[in-house]
Amino acid sequence: MSPYLFDNSAPESQGRFSALEACYDPVSRRQLASIGLKAGWKCLEIGGGSASLGDWLAEQVGPDGEVTITDIEPRWAQARSDRPQVRLLRHDIVRDLLPGDGYDLVHARLVLLHLPERQRVLKRLVGALRPGGWLVLEEFDCSWVPVLAAPDEDAAVLFRRVHTALVGLLEGAGADPLWGQRVLGAMLRAGLVDLRATTYAEAWPGGSAGIALHRHNVDQVAHQLAGAGIPDRDLDRFRSLLRDPGFVANSYPLISVRGRRPFEEYQP
Ligand SMILES: C[S@@+](CC[C@H](N)C(=O)[O-])C[C@H]1O[C@@H](n2cnc3c(N)ncnc32)[C@H](O)[C@@H]1O
Repeated sequence: MSPYLFDNSAPESQGRFSALEACYDPVSRRQLASIGLKAGWKCLEIGGGSASLGDWLAEQVGPDGEVTITDIEPRWAQARSDRPQVRLLRHDIVRDLLPGDGYDLVHARLVLLHLPERQRVLKRLVGALRPGGWLVLEEFDCSWVPVLAAPDEDAAVLFRRVHTALVGLLEGAGADPLWGQRVLGAMLRAGLVDLRATTYAEAWPGGSAGIALHRHNVDQVAHQLAGAGIPDRDLDRFRSLLRDPGFVANSYPLISVRGRRPFEEYQP
């Protein structure tokens, strides 16, 4: 199994999914709507997490469509995957056979970033599309999370120190924190056409739904952060900062890239 740092078996996953849903689902829905998503489409949602987007996709494609939602640990998706057009699979996109092919849409948000095999997985996802089908990948650029307001300079320094340590743990587990910057190029090299990308970011004040993402992330790996030089007392200060409305950090920029598999060329 791939060494995913934020294993879904941990209780912090629920909070992480709530934060992602609150902040980024409206953005992802706009991206998916912009490709002309229609009733009857056959869709594949990779690493669906809580299935908030998979469930929305199922609503859009209707009873004549099909949505396959995969995850290596699908326990959080189960409650939301009860429509007849949804198939929920425990599935590792690195190792398992693809669950199908000829998809009108393949979507993954914040999944390939975590996978050391992301380039190979990207090729597999392209291969799962029908000619003219869309691949939509949405990924963070973890390098641009500036502090926009802080009660004092020490607070800003602490935030940056803890965040840098967290990103170091991600890299240690094989993630690419800059993958958001590289997705479009990788999709171009994979032969996709009609590529477009947009980037979304907003200010996350202390106490907001979005900034809670940092809390769930550090809570889940507190032990490893201690090993990386962030003692519990610093993590406690970090958690207080995330509740302080006088502290504001930029959200992770979400880079959403869409591209389609070319239609087959006529071969005389
Ligand atoms: C950061 S979460 C994102 C969840 C969801 N896509 C979202 O944006 O709300 C990453 C998800 O990818 C799943 N995942 C990690 N490695 C995977 C793999 N090899 N195959 C399938 N899913 C995987 C995790 O279990 C987790 O649910």
